[in-house]
Amino acid sequence: MGSELIYRGHDAQPTADAYSPKPLKPWFFVIRPVRYMLREQRLLFVLVGIAIATLIFTLSPSSSHGTYRPGYERIPDVSWESTGLTHREAYEHRGGFGFVNSGGKVPLGLKRKGLRIVVTGGAGFVGSHLVDRLIARGDSVIVVDNFFTGRKENVMHHFGNPRFELIRHDVVEPLLLEVDQIYHLACPASPVHYKFNPVKTIKTNVVGTLNMLGLAKRVGARFLLTSTSEVYGDPLQHPQVETYWGNVNPIGVRSCYDEGKRTAETLTMDYHRGAEVEVRIARIFNTYGPRMCIDDGRVVSNFVAQALRKEPLTVYGDGKQTRSFQYVSDLVEGLMRLMEGEHVGPFNLGNPGEFTMLELAQVVQETIDPNATIEFKPNTEDDPHKRKPDISKAKEQLGWEPKVALRKGLPLMVSDFRQRIFGDQKENGATTTKSSA
Ligand SMILES: NC(=O)c1ccc[n+]([C@@H]2O[C@H](COP(=O)([O-])OP(=O)(O)OC[C@H]3O[C@@H](n4cnc5c(N)ncnc54)[C@H](O)[C@@H]3O)[C@@H](O)[C@H]2O)c1
Repeated sequence: MGSELIYRGHDAQPTADAYSPKPLKPWFFVIRPVRYMLREQRLLFVLVGIAIATLIFTLSPSSSHGTYRPGYERIPDVSWESTGLTHREAYEHRGGFGFVNSGGKVPLGLKRKGLRIVVTGGAGFVGSHLVDRLIARGDSVIVVDNFFTGRKENVMHHFGNPRFELIRHDVVEPLLLEVDQIYHLACPASPVHYKFNPVKTIKTNVVGTLNMLGLAKRVGARFLLTSTSEVYGDPLQHPQVETYWGNVNPIGVRSCYDEGKRTAETLTMDYHRGAEVEVRIARIFNTYGPRMCIDDGRVVSNFVAQALRKEPLTVYGDGKQTRSFQYVSDLVEGLMRLMEGEHVGPFNLGNPGEFTMLELAQVVQETIDPNATIEFKPNTEDDPHKRKPDISKAKEQLGWEPKVALRKGLPLMVSDFRQRIFGDQKENGATTTKSSA
């Protein structure tokens, strides 16, 4: 028995007192840090830390809440309206006009980028002047144009500039581009051109505008529509205020343009209300200046070309119908203010100075040829009797009004017309009456 006891002692069997690691309970990992935090008010410090971090992430401009501007940082959803800043001021606030800098995130030594802007119809008369201003401001501009009435010559001085691109494209077909702003001008503007293919004109206005609004929605770009005073038709209210709904013939020869633009305005507002696209609408009144199509049937270009060629100035009807004429630089300034501002519109952009056709002919005689004669022809269908913008809204909300009077602006386009008419004559050996389309 004793030997048996001795033997067991050597066997080193585990006893109750010997150390063995206990299996840990699952709540041990929770309880231990909690106990640790509760000691000496460490929980309080943790909570304060969380609160500070939340505050920083909420106020930081690069927070994930925001509107995505393609090619740029996220821009907080705080609208310019609510900050009391205009879009333009907001850009300036972020480090210089046309440059986006959210809270100094651009590393030192890297240049800040300008905006990327598409101008449809940018090879046309108004579009090309707008492109000049945008490029001069430091933005990158993509011109989209099918060259129906536009010309490469209007923008070729930008060829070679890395901030300029030109795409031959018809806006009736969809297009995908990454841009911040869309100036939608593509549409023939003169009666000669828009009546040439009325179905195409209304398609450009409706399908083209739909495509560009779709693009704006997709990439989160701001969209500006260049509508027209033609939406007032033959107005029964004078001068025309933006709240006037117009007097338009829906089945006339001008309807493809007038009703097309009215529908374009409708689409623009529907995308704004329904899809929250940022939109702007300008209603442009008669505009003149260098690079207008020669012989396009618009009264100023007609008179100037006729006077330069020593032809009689054609006045339709009795010449007592009135129009207002704005110089193109005034319009471009108005369009840019509208795009950068905080108001949707529509805004009348035009010069309220009202002239009868006979008075205009007289100014052309004084400027170009005092001996120019006048020839009367029957008036065209649906030609409005009078047109004069009320620009109080643009004055008040955009701080805009035209600066260039007709007698100052006209000589500025005469030299361009002279060079194009007689330059063409030298090249072709004959005076060309072909429009620049
Ligand atoms: N100039 C004015 O007096 C005036 C007045 C009212 C409204 N507007 C509007 O301003 C805008 C520009 O007018 P503008 O005087 O420069 O005319 P414009 O004819 O000189 O320019 C229009 C441009 O759009 C292009 N275009 C036409 N259809 C197109 C299409 N389907 N796809 C792509 N490009 C197309 C043309 O090639 C041209 O370059 C137009 O929308 C016009 O309705 C102008």
